[in-house]
Amino acid sequence: MKNIRNLFNWTKKHWFILFVVLFLAVFAPFTYSYVPLFIKYIFDIVLEGNQTEVGLPFFLLNYFDSLEGIKAIFNVSLILVIYQFLRSIILFANGFFRGKLSQEISYDMRNEMYAHIQDLSYSYHSKANTGDLLQRCTSDIETVQAFIANQLPSMVNIVAQFAFGAMQLGRINVILMLSTMVLFPVSLVSSIWYFRYVTKRFNQIEEVESKMTTIIQENVNGIRVVKAFNTEIDEIEKFDKQSKAYRDDWKRFNNVSAIYWGLSDFSANISYIITLVTAIYLSQKGVMTTGDIVVGLMYIGMLVWPIRGLGRIISDFGKAIIANKRILEVLETPTDYVNDGTLEPEITGEIEFINVKYSYTENADLLNGVSFKIKPGQTVALIGKTGAGKSTVASLLTRLIDCSDGKILLDGVDIKDIKKQHVRENIGLVLQEPFLYARSIYDNISIARPKTEQHLVYNAAKIAAIDSDINKFEKGYETLVGEKGVTLSGGQKQRVAIARMLLLEKPVVIFDDSLSAVDTTTDLMIRKALKTRNEHLTSIIITHRITTAKEADLIIVLDSGKVSQIGTHEELSKVEGLYKNLWDIQGQLEENFLTHIKGGVQDATL
Ligand SMILES: Nc1ncnc2c1ncn2[C@@H]1O[C@H](COP(=O)(O)OP(=O)(O)OP(=O)(O)O)[C@@H](O)[C@H]1O
Ligand SMILES: [Mg+2]
Repeated sequence: MKNIRNLFNWTKKHWFILFVVLFLAVFAPFTYSYVPLFIKYIFDIVLEGNQTEVGLPFFLLNYFDSLEGIKAIFNVSLILVIYQFLRSIILFANGFFRGKLSQEISYDMRNEMYAHIQDLSYSYHSKANTGDLLQRCTSDIETVQAFIANQLPSMVNIVAQFAFGAMQLGRINVILMLSTMVLFPVSLVSSIWYFRYVTKRFNQIEEVESKMTTIIQENVNGIRVVKAFNTEIDEIEKFDKQSKAYRDDWKRFNNVSAIYWGLSDFSANISYIITLVTAIYLSQKGVMTTGDIVVGLMYIGMLVWPIRGLGRIISDFGKAIIANKRILEVLETPTDYVNDGTLEPEITGEIEFINVKYSYTENADLLNGVSFKIKPGQTVALIGKTGAGKSTVASLLTRLIDCSDGKILLDGVDIKDIKKQHVRENIGLVLQEPFLYARSIYDNISIARPKTEQHLVYNAAKIAAIDSDINKFEKGYETLVGEKGVTLSGGQKQRVAIARMLLLEKPVVIFDDSLSAVDTTTDLMIRKALKTRNEHLTSIIITHRITTAKEADLIIVLDSGKVSQIGTHEELSKVEGLYKNLWDIQGQLEENFLTHIKGGVQDATL
């Protein structure tokens, strides 16, 4: 019941259109139910001269009474044509409003989903399955929209056809009407059973389909890996497995549906025969006229045949309920802003971690009491083995995640009390894996400030040392990136991402390994340009490159969930520890470089 109510919640805003659609779904069969009476009139009154009650709408009745012979047939036919014309206007209105309802509802659903997905937390998205999410935003919405705008009115239409058909048939002969309904309980029970079956099966089918979509989506995104590792055959096999499961699930579903439809067709035919036999019997008894039989058969059409369509609608109803559940699952997930702070203090770059703990899983703590303090304007290097939790520190600082224990203070204020948006407005993060949109380079840089002045965009690109690379492209800043344009190199992508961040001029910027694909000289150039532009900038540079760390005002070494060392290069290079080890390797490398390549590149990674 709750599921059905949820489904109808989408119509709240458009209740009037829904009302019109449903009214027309009832009104159309009501008007149709009078069409056979015109025929009955011709048969009984005009051809056979009987004076039985025809039951035409009252306003036509008196008029027909005064007519005779061919003139009557002509007039009745003419009025029938006009009547049908008016009915076609109703049918047009029906189609028109259904279309309107369908588009309005899917528009609302799409936008609500998209807006909600934008607001969902980073933790949600890091676990979410993109293919599945896409399916919920597209085909699930379509299923719900189609049900509300098409199948629901059809269902009402069928019930109305049935009711009006039964009413008119009852007016001709009650026994005849009852004979059409002998098998009705059987249809009802089997429909309920089928509805239950569809809801259950369709849930499974959706799951398998979303797995299949995910494989396609991952494969297309990661096609370079597939090619490089020569795993095409494995990938095809993996897909084939899901595809087979999908095919088999549908086959099973279709088989059961076919049995259901076959049986419901069979029972419709039996009903038809029962009614026909009853009609002939009753006419032989003299209870019914020829006109009654002809018209009776038309009404049986209204009663028996539409019921066949009900099976399909029932299956769509089941699908819509499942699809809607999947949509609501997303919409009912709390957004990132449920647990938000309220303060908006000025952020200068004073950052303090006090015994911060965090873990992605229940068991072991990844960060197990991290403490350090950064002063405004400092350049800080955060180093540590891969997987030590450096990116996690960056996520904590931008409130993509919140620490489970301990405190993070920004200018003395607990970060949890500060509005997330305010934190992110002040602390920029250049991600470890830059993401570029399939738009021009210019748009990619100015994405967060699309209306910014051009020279600022160029300036940011210059500081990020990407300007000269861009100018080498034929179309310069207008060069399209990705799908429709050039593929940028790893280092170029990183620098576009840095330019994007610099344009925002935030007081604190975290570079999460964002210079790893840039050569050492360019790395140095960028860092110098940054400092020259804004000496108050507080920057946290997460890096595996010891030469970069060396330049920092403060080096923080993260190891086993804690800060194992903290200090300047001078201090740390003298004491035993991770930093010294790295520096020693760096030293050796430097020596090797110097002997083999004069003036070579100094580069060492953890
Ligand atoms: N969203 C997540 N869900 C679950 N575990 C995660 C998530 N993000 C990271 N981890 C795990 O947390 C650990 C630390 O990850 P993190 O990205 O912070 O390391 P890192 O120090 O930045 O490493 P690298 O130098 O390789 O970038 C890793 O073991 C990683 O598998
Ligand atoms: Mg990382």
